[in-house]
Amino acid sequence: LALGIDTSTQSVKALLVDADDGTVVAQRAVRHPAGTEVDPQAWLAAVDEVLAALPPAQLRDVAAVGVGGQQHGMVALDAEDRPVRDALLWNDTRSAGAAADLVAEMGGPQACADAIGSVLVASFTVTKLRWLRDHEPERAARVARVLLPHDLVARHLSAPGTDPFTDRGDASGTGYFATAEGRWRPDLAAAALGHEPDLPRLVAPGGVAAHTPDGAVVSAGTGDNMAAALGMALGPDDVLVSLGTSGVASAVSARPVADGTGVVTGFADAAGGFLPMVTTMNAAGILDLQAQWLGVDHDGLADLALESTPDAGGVVLSPYYGGERSPYRPTATGTWTGLTPRTTRADLARAAYTALLCSLADAVDQVVAATGVEPRRVLLVGGAARSRAVRALAPAVLGRPVTVVPPGEYVALGAARQAAWALAGSDAPPTWAGPEAEVLEAEPDPQVRATYADLRERTASWT
Ligand code: XUL
Repeated sequence: LALGIDTSTQSVKALLVDADDGTVVAQRAVRHPAGTEVDPQAWLAAVDEVLAALPPAQLRDVAAVGVGGQQHGMVALDAEDRPVRDALLWNDTRSAGAAADLVAEMGGPQACADAIGSVLVASFTVTKLRWLRDHEPERAARVARVLLPHDLVARHLSAPGTDPFTDRGDASGTGYFATAEGRWRPDLAAAALGHEPDLPRLVAPGGVAAHTPDGAVVSAGTGDNMAAALGMALGPDDVLVSLGTSGVASAVSARPVADGTGVVTGFADAAGGFLPMVTTMNAAGILDLQAQWLGVDHDGLADLALESTPDAGGVVLSPYYGGERSPYRPTATGTWTGLTPRTTRADLARAAYTALLCSLADAVDQVVAATGVEPRRVLLVGGAARSRAVRALAPAVLGRPVTVVPPGEYVALGAARQAAWALAGSDAPPTWAGPEAEVLEAEPDPQVRATYADLRERTASWT
């Protein structure tokens, strides 16, 4: 069996799968304190708890272990391997100023993207190191080594004395890794922190990183987005759209990306390629707010929206309620236009779905422009992908066939697949049957996107 662990912002999930074909035989989850600043010990305790909850007989059959984890988090350890403070996570924005400073020091956004594959934002580990140096200098001075969340968990599962390790996928979210070349830039970590910390050894895709105390193979592990791509067996002509609180569009790519506008983050993937990604800040939240305003639940909102017309009765919404990062409008607010005495609640509901889908369509286009590969299909996952209205409207707005992927633990599954790959010692990850997906098709409706694009441009200078 292969054991896949997902160490996420809120919980640890464990999946036991048949290493030959990926069939899930057991799964457990344990929640731990969430937030933006967390004692890493809480993750390790949750890992121990989740393993203790798995059937012992099956656990004894585990031949390979892999870990996928929340990207970017700063786990800063002293010379005795104790955390110098709680970990600062990807969603902690206190280092926004540090990110701007570091980008300027690197010679501006394009130079930054050329060096590391992305333009730094507060999520990236290196910005947290700079924040530490500026705000907690005594602690910064004690930092001997910096790990990512998955590195810490993977080492915890390895035999005592194992030196820390990571992979290029998760490393590409640190800000001190030359993603295109696949090597650390310790000088960038040193420039942020004030001295050079130890960095984990890099393990090649499919490589054996370590062994557990029981002799099972431990794979390199990777970031959660990279693990999800492996778990869904994302192909070179797929674009993945994940519809959660934030919206994420990503695709696997054979070539590196260096987008100086900062819209596309040029991560590496877990299979030797790249995983360019666009993140929107306003996604499922647009629908939550709309349902609340109209006094309906999500099913009610979908029913209303489907009563309206494709042009939503002329109502158009620019949905950047909480500011936006794609397009980069940190201080934007939402804008409604086209409201008339004839506007109905159904039109308002429809405009909300249209805005969500148009914003995702923009993200997909940016990923496609970065990879240069026209996708055969868009894979849709996440809570809002279950909405009747999203399913009905997505193919026409996205202008491409949409495949809805059923809910599942794809990060843990991808981690297990990486583990099975390391165990097999093969050139490529094992071929596992992908999830049973539902394919939706419709004629593209370019007018809907053109109307949205018009409002997007008109509001560009409004903040
Ligand atoms: C990606 C990012 C998030 C985390 C979530 O840049 O910050 O998707 O990986 O765990």
